[in-house]
Amino acid sequence: MNRPEIILAPGPTPIPPEVSLAQGSPLVYHRGPGFGRLMRNVTGRLHELYRAQDASILLMTSSGTGGLESAVTNVLSPGDDVLVPLAGFFSERWMKLAESYGLKVRTVEYEWGRRVDPRDVASALAEQPVKAVLLTQSETSTGVIQPIEELAGVARQAGALVIVDCVSSLGAVPFEFDGWGIDVAVGGSQKALSASPGIAFVAVSERAWEAHRSSTLPRFYFDWSTYQRFAELPEPENPWTPAISVMQGLEAALELYFQDGVDEALKRHQTVSRAVKDGVRAMGLELFGEGLERNWTVTAIRAPDGIDADTISDRIRSDFGCVLAPGQGPLKGRVFRIGHFGYFSELDIIRGLAALEMTLERLGYPLQLGAAVGAAEGVFQASNAGTGPSGVEGSS
Ligand SMILES: Cc1ncc(COP(=O)(O)O)c(C=O)c1O
Repeated sequence: MNRPEIILAPGPTPIPPEVSLAQGSPLVYHRGPGFGRLMRNVTGRLHELYRAQDASILLMTSSGTGGLESAVTNVLSPGDDVLVPLAGFFSERWMKLAESYGLKVRTVEYEWGRRVDPRDVASALAEQPVKAVLLTQSETSTGVIQPIEELAGVARQAGALVIVDCVSSLGAVPFEFDGWGIDVAVGGSQKALSASPGIAFVAVSERAWEAHRSSTLPRFYFDWSTYQRFAELPEPENPWTPAISVMQGLEAALELYFQDGVDEALKRHQTVSRAVKDGVRAMGLELFGEGLERNWTVTAIRAPDGIDADTISDRIRSDFGCVLAPGQGPLKGRVFRIGHFGYFSELDIIRGLAALEMTLERLGYPLQLGAAVGAAEGVFQASNAGTGPSGVEGSS
């Protein structure tokens, strides 16, 4: 039967019907009051989500990587030193991006699955100062949420700009652009906000603008000054033809996200994460990565002895149309991942866990069918009764 796939992967995440309808409605012309209103609404919401009062929010037609590339080319110059703490696939990508622009990249290296220790970053910076520290909040390859507040603190103390990839975390875990002293933070439409892929957003602090004015790396399509000039028109615009439909969908996605407010949305992510993790443990499987209580975006799971992790993600997809993510890099074949940020309901999670139980049993893994579903139901019921996770304490 040709049903839509059940996506439980770390982005793109499934989009709700309201978003589909909005992006399927007539195009708003990109020069004029309709698009101006759209841009004002979207950037206004993003200011709130980033918890950034005075920062500029630039909207770019691109996936998240374009926003990350813009961060490098707009504040740095050839030969500048940058520090990248490495703890997984996406922090390694930061390194490659910086290297490809001729920056001098210094690293602090961890085994995949570890949390970056701010003390290590502080000593590396004390040894040799750098112009910028490039951080990844949600290391999507391992599920680990890195301690951005503390890392930003030590970077600032050492006089470095703080540039954060929050592509797979903005909207799913706490983020405080102003409160934590962040200079540049890059997010994407297709992750926790559950809009379609195609828009990157970049928050830029006054310090970052200052660095921009003297930076000399080449840039054209992603030149922040051009974006800012068009954003400051009486009816804000994009310099180039934007992904108008995606933007219409993003506006609807933000509307939904804000229906209950940011705190409530974060709490929902915490509860869903706990339900997935308790469900997986109830199957007798082992979770991967440090700081599990804070890792609300992705759960990485070790495959049981004798079963290749890729076989699990292949089989659950062919048998049930359920998309999980395989392990990356050194975790390939050893780990598979469930993405659970975005607009998920309790039942989305429960059917995913049910599919996983049946898949594992078909692969010969001994388990009690229904155990994972029962454990997840328990978390949701406790949360509904007000005895589950409450508040969103614990910054990153
Ligand atoms: C942490 C992180 N950074 C960057 C990216 C790349 O984003 P995109 O594929 O939107 O360019 C991803 C995508 O999964 C990600 O998880």
